[in-house]
Amino acid sequence: MRSQFIVFEGPEGGGKSTQIARLATHLTIEGHEVVVTREPGGTPVGDAIRLVLLERDDDVMLAETEAFLLSAARAQHVHDVIRPALRRGCVVLCDRYADSTRAYQGGGGGMSADDLECLQRIATGGLTPDLRLLLDLPVETGLARRHQDPSTVNRIDRAERAYHEQVRDAFLRLARAEPDSWTIIDASRSIDLVSDDVIRTVRAHLLDTV
Ligand code: TYD
Repeated sequence: MRSQFIVFEGPEGGGKSTQIARLATHLTIEGHEVVVTREPGGTPVGDAIRLVLLERDDDVMLAETEAFLLSAARAQHVHDVIRPALRRGCVVLCDRYADSTRAYQGGGGGMSADDLECLQRIATGGLTPDLRLLLDLPVETGLARRHQDPSTVNRIDRAERAYHEQVRDAFLRLARAEPDSWTIIDASRSIDLVSDDVIRTVRAHLLDTV
């Protein structure tokens, strides 16, 4: 079977981790070797960077600072986890990747697309996803879900509503600009309905690429 790099993206509260776990179980039963990973994180150095980025109450962190930290974590992640798994023929399911930087630090944080592409080129070495799923939902719904469990609320979740609206708009623009590599899924629905769509989309994609 051919390796696949499948990325889940979207604004807060879309339930990416639940959907990834369900999909991973499904694909494993179907005989795929699956690797589940996430950003920021996925390596020891990435996990340490994640703490700096998300656990601090430092509301004044610049978008540029965030972008450098995220890119540093991504470079290590691509090198240590993603590329080796793809070389082994695995299906890699990644919770966020470069489009999150475009949407959050670009759309929300105001960094220019050119500056971000320059960082991405270094961090990813040109590795792009085979398929991207955008779990899209209204900002209000997503943030309300997120704030139901205050222990999971991180520094970025606490950004103002307008920031999150810009992030969502940026994701939608990215997905609409490249419809062949994105599928937009309405994540405001029940977990089961979303999961049906996720599994159907990935299955169709895998059949297309054998
Ligand atoms: P996490 O707790 O994993 O949230 P989620 O379940 O929404 O993915 O926190 C990741 C946070 O980091 C999230 O608020 C989005 C943010 N982020 C960026 O701002 N830029 C990025 O490039 C990435 C990968 C994440």
